[in-house]
Amino acid sequence: MNLKHMNKVKNSFWIRSMMMQKLVALLILLFGSSTKSEDLTGKVFTFPSESITRYATLTPNVDGPYSAVTLCLRSFPQYGRIHSIFSLATQSKDNDFLLYYPEKGKYSLHVHNNIHEFKGMPDNQHEWNSVCWTWDGKTGLTQLWVNGKRSIRAKIYTGSIAATTPIIILGQDQDSYGGGFDPKQCFVGDLSDVHMWNYVLNPCEIQTYMNGFAFTPGNVLNWKTLNYKVNGEVFVEPNDSACRS
Ligand SMILES: *[C@@H]1O[C@H](CO)[C@@H](O)[C@H](O)[C@H]1NC(C)=O
Repeated sequence: MNLKHMNKVKNSFWIRSMMMQKLVALLILLFGSSTKSEDLTGKVFTFPSESITRYATLTPNVDGPYSAVTLCLRSFPQYGRIHSIFSLATQSKDNDFLLYYPEKGKYSLHVHNNIHEFKGMPDNQHEWNSVCWTWDGKTGLTQLWVNGKRSIRAKIYTGSIAATTPIIILGQDQDSYGGGFDPKQCFVGDLSDVHMWNYVLNPCEIQTYMNGFAFTPGNVLNWKTLNYKVNGEVFVEPNDSACRS
């Protein structure tokens, strides 16, 4: 092969590899940082320690505003920590829909920055807790179910939430739209089976969820087709409580 030809071959190879690099960069740009949709059945999000960098951002399948909400999830938190369980913020309301755990057996519910606390709820330590929370914007009533037991219905807020694009975060408490995290309020432990509906589920459906049987998945958030993006070290792990053979 003469030198001229070799240079030509080298050049075309170089051009091709440059094009490949650009293509890869473009693909990373397009898909690398975008949210992915995944079936997380039998899996959990593991938040391994206190931080302000670990969290998962969830993209809802149905846009707001929501005039009613049911949120169900299973939580296995680190023992004895204050923590945020579910944080939905909008530009104007950092606690548009927030589920917060201030102490054992106590849940703090926030709707459109209004607060109601339920005390003395069932609370498994070193074990999974199944939690369902309903809110009806027509009556303003809210109710919490934990491990099959229900709270009373309490008045919290009449109206709707998530009128502007909400940011939904697991693992941190938003004190501003998409930020304002406090390491003392973050979630440490495992979260799973997160489902959200833009209507109030009836008690039978909630008990079905509590008992772990087949239920109608959430239309706003669905653990079986979850659109999410992870920041920092949040791990997707199998449910290790289940004995696998
Ligand atoms: C994990 O497995 C245990 C044992 O089968 C079960 O009780 C628990 O509800 C499961 N948790 C989740 C989130 O699936």
